[in-house]
Amino acid sequence: MKKQSLAIVIIAMLCILVISSMSSFTSENEPVHTEASTSGECIVVGFSQLGAESDWRSAHTESIQSTFTVENGYKLLLEDGQQKQANQITAIRTFIQQDVDYIVLAPVTETGWDTVLQEAKDAGIPVIIVDRMVDVSDDSLFTCWIGSDFYLEGKKAAEWLNQYTIAEGIDAKDLNIVNIQGTIGSSAQIGRTRGLADAAKLYGWNLKAERAGDFTQAKGKEVMETLLKMYYDINVVYCENDNEACGAIEAIEAAGKKVGSDIKNGEIMVISFDGVKEEAMDYVRQDKISLIAECNPLHGPRVEAIIKLLAEGKEPEKFSYIDEKIYSSTATVGEIMVEETVYPVTIP
Ligand code: AHR
Repeated sequence: MKKQSLAIVIIAMLCILVISSMSSFTSENEPVHTEASTSGECIVVGFSQLGAESDWRSAHTESIQSTFTVENGYKLLLEDGQQKQANQITAIRTFIQQDVDYIVLAPVTETGWDTVLQEAKDAGIPVIIVDRMVDVSDDSLFTCWIGSDFYLEGKKAAEWLNQYTIAEGIDAKDLNIVNIQGTIGSSAQIGRTRGLADAAKLYGWNLKAERAGDFTQAKGKEVMETLLKMYYDINVVYCENDNEACGAIEAIEAAGKKVGSDIKNGEIMVISFDGVKEEAMDYVRQDKISLIAECNPLHGPRVEAIIKLLAEGKEPEKFSYIDEKIYSSTATVGEIMVEETVYPVTIP
């Protein structure tokens, strides 16, 4: 009887042990798992920004930083490529080693990304390309792209110039244009340069020079100083961003010439892109810049929307273009038509 009681006590104790170990399995493991998925372990985003060359770029970086915050459930790893593709490739490789959840890449130039994007793909990390494009042999090397249609921006600026000269009775062959280009090989430069070059050919404008200004104010000024010494009859300066335009205006005014839309009376017309830099928008109000084709830098919320889609297992659009405006100092041209779409001209 004593032996039987002892056996019952041992069995009861064993049961309690098993039950308590089961309950500790459920109470310790399940809640931990739930906590991991609901308390929001941060989503880790590695962002390779190409540099800090312009006001547009600063606004772009700020948009990403203010979206991917700890409060919003993210850990953002930001690397500045300082205009060098090699730095950006190193950053992406580091993100892969860190096993981030998503890579966001703003590429400095279009070509040369195949190898590193293949590495990210092999690691199973989605890559979202923002702003400029990558030119790769296989589009499956990146998840999707979001940014501006730079060729369309160039076409809009050129078509506005065409309409303006028609309205003012300026002969096409009297237009002497110089182009201060952006970073050579970047999508923004390629598209905007092509937009102007196509129109110059089509309408018979004199496109006297194309020189790289690297999207910076200092280089825009330096290039304009050189061009003013080379060509005495420049009447239109097409700058591929606002920083270059501000630099070019400094050079033109320092040379004793006047910027403005009144080409017929000797003013030098400045055309630009972005519409982010306050100084440039003020110059539109003062008719020192005649036209700005907008380029919108606020990609943070757009990238976050893509990440949310991906997290839900949905597929985002492969290519998403942003709608953009055109701003002018003059009401001479009320609207323009490009590729069968009408774009109203906004006076800021
Ligand atoms: O790629 C977008 C361009 O890059 C912007 O127009 C320019 O300002 C920037 O540096």
